[in-house]
Amino acid sequence: MKLNINGVERQVATDWQDETLLTVLRDHLGLPGTRFSCGIGQCGACLVHVEGSPVSSCLMSVKQAADKNILTIEGLAADDGTLHPLQQAWIDENVPQCGYCQSGQIMQALALLETTPDPDDADIDQAMNGNLCRCGTYDRIRKSIKKAAIVMREAN
Ligand code: FES
Ligand code: FES
Repeated sequence: MKLNINGVERQVATDWQDETLLTVLRDHLGLPGTRFSCGIGQCGACLVHVEGSPVSSCLMSVKQAADKNILTIEGLAADDGTLHPLQQAWIDENVPQCGYCQSGQIMQALALLETTPDPDDADIDQAMNGNLCRCGTYDRIRKSIKKAAIVMREAN
C-alpha cells in the first residue's frame, strides 16, 4: 500500500495495514508531529489534511488513506526551510505552552484560512471549536491566525 505524504510517496508495510493513519504516521513512518491524544476524534491533536480537507487521523484507517494526498505538519514549511506564515506567527506570538495540541491547531487554522482568508473572531472560534488546548492558549491562537492571514493575503 502507498501513501502520498507531503508530496512524497511512502510504502506502508503489510504489518501496518490494519492500523489507523495516525499510528502509521507516528510509529511506522517517523512523522511524530501529528499527535496522539484522545484517540476517539474528540480533541483535534491528530489533525492532518487528506485531499485538502482536515481529518482526524485517529479515526481514519490507513487503508482509507491509501493513494490519497496527505499533508502533515512536517509538510508545511517550504523546501528551503522557510516556515509557513502560520508557523511563523505561532512562534512570533509564543503560542505554545506545553505544545502538545499545537500541530493540530495549526492544521485546523490552515483549513480555515484556505476557505476564509480574512476571518473574524467568530469565524475562528467556530473553525477551531474542535481543537482542544488544556493549556488555554486560545487567545494567542486567535491572534496568530489573524497575523498569518494578513501575511497570506499579501502574498496572494
Ligand atoms: S487524537 Fe484524534 S481527535 Fe484526539
Ligand atoms: S499548548 Fe498545552 S495542550 Fe495546548
